[in-house]
Order: sequence, then structure tokens, then C-alpha cells
Amino acid sequence: MSKMTPDSSKSIPTFYAGQSILLTGATGFMGKVFIEKVLRTCSDVREIFLVIRPKKGLSVNQRLEKILHLPLYERLRNERPFSFQKLIPISGDATEKGFGLSASDRQMLIERVTIIVHGSASVRFNNTLQFAIFTNTRATRDICILAQNMKNLLAVVHISTAFAHVNESIVEEKVYPSIADWRKMITIAESLDEHTLNIFTAKCLEYAPNTYIFTKNLSERIILDYSSSLPCAIIRPSSVSPSIKEPMPGWIDNLYGPIGLYVGGGKGIVRIGHCKKSTTENNVPVDAVINAILVTTWKLGLTSPTADSTVFVLNFSSQKSFSFKNSMNILSSIIKETPFEKTLWVPNTILTDNLLIFYVLTILLHILPAIIFDSVLYVSGRRPMLLKLMRRLYVANRAVSYFSFHERKFDHENRLNLLNSISPNDLEEFSFDYTSSDIREYCRHCVIGAKQFILHEDMNRLDIAHAHRKRIYLFATIFETTILIGLLWIIYKYMYSL
Ligand SMILES: NC(=O)c1ccc[n+]([C@@H]2O[C@H](COP(=O)([O-])OP(=O)(O)OC[C@H]3O[C@@H](n4cnc5c(N)ncnc54)[C@H](OP(=O)(O)O)[C@@H]3O)[C@@H](O)[C@H]2O)c1
Repeated sequence: MSKMTPDSSKSIPTFYAGQSILLTGATGFMGKVFIEKVLRTCSDVREIFLVIRPKKGLSVNQRLEKILHLPLYERLRNERPFSFQKLIPISGDATEKGFGLSASDRQMLIERVTIIVHGSASVRFNNTLQFAIFTNTRATRDICILAQNMKNLLAVVHISTAFAHVNESIVEEKVYPSIADWRKMITIAESLDEHTLNIFTAKCLEYAPNTYIFTKNLSERIILDYSSSLPCAIIRPSSVSPSIKEPMPGWIDNLYGPIGLYVGGGKGIVRIGHCKKSTTENNVPVDAVINAILVTTWKLGLTSPTADSTVFVLNFSSQKSFSFKNSMNILSSIIKETPFEKTLWVPNTILTDNLLIFYVLTILLHILPAIIFDSVLYVSGRRPMLLKLMRRLYVANRAVSYFSFHERKFDHENRLNLLNSISPNDLEEFSFDYTSSDIREYCRHCVIGAKQFILHEDMNRLDIAHAHRKRIYLFATIFETTILIGLLWIIYKYMYSL
């Protein structure tokens, strides 16, 4: 529905009472936060079906069990331990046709589901075209086919990305013509051999920076095409960052995007980054995005479809404007107060937009130290690891840097209207406006979140981290001064010999 004119008399928790939600991507960063928020704030929801694939030797039930022990669910474990019974894991793999659902699960979903939130995707930028099409594009089509069979469906919310339309300098809240015909692309992916597909990939990547963006772009068109018969919405978050408030500030479970740069920088591992410093960062806190999804679903569910109904699109890009340079400055001041443990070197990441400088400094500051460090590990009988890590960081940096060189603006009218439609009683719990938040305080929570939830560091050991940092600082100063004196000495000797 392009313009949603709903009956907003129902509060958000009242709307969710009795609903059966189907969530794909349940084990992902956003999926886990979605589950937590619904169970905690919409306690009368009937059930949430979670499509999960078995992975790393764990069954879907074991994977769910493991997730529910995360610190993310601590509050829920204390406040509503029985709410977990509403979670129903279903085995499904997006790479398979029809999401790999069994006939009986499929039938159960058709009979019971009233809301679909489709969040699964492979977010790796360097997947093969075939894999990305199966996981991100064909799976979206198959979710829509499943949805068409559901008798009581109120809403299909597809999580896209703000970067699905990289060729637009101003991204409006509408679906653009797709890069290619999704039907043909699925047929091609299903029929061509790997070698031919690889040649084809090069052609596709003339229009998109990577296979992730390419396939997410196609998926939006699928949603648009099915929206004539389904109540659909597309949410386009930009880079999703740690939570700002709920269920605790700083929740994070991955090192994607800029957070990887900050953690790597804070540990003294990432010392050079290829990026345009003046570009405005485009991060949005995960809890704000989840609230936007819940409010969009509420609106969609309460809106009566009309003959000209079409997909509702919501751009969810950053509400705060600060550059990469500013954020690095803020972070380095926070890291001085709250250092990471066992830092390898003095945290200081040089950002440059010059590719030549980036390559030279990558060799000097990343590759050479990694070779020395790994050699020490090897000689002392331990497994070398830094060079491998540096290679991964390099790939990640090159992928992320694309976005710093291609800044774009986003329309926000739908977001503002949606925000204004939330009743005052629901605002506290479901607002996704964080314009008044303190950015330094948020960054501080991001650092603490990364320490606690990713690196599993204890905040009570800060004094040890400070002491280590001082030792590293002293060692680095001595080392760098020695190198400098050595270089000056060589130059002096060379000049003297002329
Ligand atoms: N994070 C961001 O910055 C960002 C920004 C914009 C848009 N988005 C979009 O938001 C959605 C959620 O992203 P996220 O950050 O939560 O990503 P994520 O942490 O990588 O989670 C991806 C989810 O998709 C599932 N998935 C991937 N391949 C699958 C398969 N073959 N079969 C079944 N499930 C599969 C994953 O399951 P496994 O645990 O089994 O791998 C996981 O649950 C995605 O659609 C993404 O494109 C994310």
C-alpha cells in the first residue's frame, strides 16, 4: 500500500495479540532482536514460527536453545521465561527451492500464519551469483508463493537494504525498476553451469558492486510484483549497528561493517582503512530498525487493501549526521577510557581515500607486522593467525569502502508519517526516533557491547586493560623511535659517503 491510511485505534500490542508470525533469518543479528522485542512487548502474540537451518552439526532445536542462552535474552528470561514456549522452530534452507520446507510444515504455516517477516539473506558480498540468487532472490519469491496460499495473511514485511539502488543519488521510498528480470535470473541460475555463470557474474557486476546488492535489488522487484495480491512492505535499513536502548544498549553479535573497523582499530590490528573520511556514516541501531518493522507491520495489518494497493517502502537510514572521521575521533577517545584487552599495538587507524597510500601502508602496517608476529607464533610452537586475519580484514575493508565513496541521500517521508501515526501510549515502547540521543554515549555503549558480547571481556578487568595499553604504548614508542633513529642514521651515513 503506497499510502497507508489505517485504523490506528488498536494499540500495537493489541494488534499483535493472537497473531502467528513467520520469521525467516531468526538466527541472525536482526532476527534475534526481533524475537526478543515481540516476546517482551507483545506478550499476547500467539506464536512465532522461526525458519532455521541445521548448521555446524546442530539441529534447529539445538540452535534455538543455544540462542536463547545469549545475554540478549537475559531480561526476558527473568521477566517472562514462559514466553519462549511461543517459539516454534521449523527446518528450512533458503538455498533450496520452496525454502526446503517439509510438506507438513508448509501446510501448518499456510493454516496459521498471519504475518510474515522475511529477514533471511546471505549478507556476504562475495557469494557466487548462483548462491546469492538462490538465497536472496529465489527464496524471496518462494516466500511470496507460500504467502499467496495463506488464508489469514495480514502483512508481508521484506527486509531489504538501503543500498539496493546504488545508482540512485537520492533514494525515494518507492521500488525502482530492477537491474535485471528476476524471473530470467532465477532460470539462469538454475540452468547454467558454474563456469558460464561466472562469466555472467562479471556482466551483472557492471550494474551492482557485489552479488549481495544485485540479488537484494531483484528481491525488491519480486515484492512489488506480488504486492498486487499480497499486503507487502519493504524496509530498507542502512548499515545496522548495535542497539541504542533495548533490551540493553550496545547489543551486538557480529563484526560486519564499520563495527569491525572500530573493534579491529581499537585492538591495534586495523591501522589503515581505505575510506573517504568526510562521508557521513550511515548506521542505524538494530532496536530502532526492529521497532520500525513492528510498527510497519501494525500499520499494514490494520490497513484495508484497495484496488490500487501497492508496496509500502520505508527507507531507514541514519538520523544522525557524523562523518567517518568524526566517529573515529570519538571512538579513539572512548577507547582511551575503555580499552580493549590484549591490544596488539597502539590503537590508531589511518583513514585514506588514496588507493596507492592505502596499498603501501597496508604492506607496511598490516602485512609486514603480521608476517613478523606469525613467525614469532610459529617459532614458539603456536598457530600463526594474523596474516590470515589481515587478508580477511582487507577483503572486508575493500567491500565496505565502496559505500564511503558512493554517498547518497534518502527520502524519509514515509518514515516520518509512520512515526507520527504511533499513539502516545505506544511511543515509549515502539518509537524508532533516536534523533535526541547522545552520539558519544551511544558510541561508548557500542565499544562496551563489542567488549562484552563479541570479545567476551569483563568490564571489571579494565585496570588490567589499561596497564597493558600503557605497556604497549611504551613499547611502540621505543620501537618507532628506534626505527626513526635507524633511518636517520642510514640517511646520514649515505649523505656523508657522497
Ligand atoms: N546487518 C545489516 O547491516 C543490514 C543492513 C541492511 C539490510 N540488512 C538485511 O537485514 C536482514 C537481516 O540481516 P542480519 O544483519 O540479521 O544478517 P545476519 O546476521 O547475517 O543473519 C542472516 C540470517 O539469514 C539466515 N540465512 C542465511 N542463509 C540462509 C539459508 N540458506 N537458509 C536459511 N536461513 C539463512 C541466517 O541463518 P544462519 O544463522 O543459519 O546463517 C541468519 O538467520 C537481511 O535480509 C539483510 O539483507 C542487514
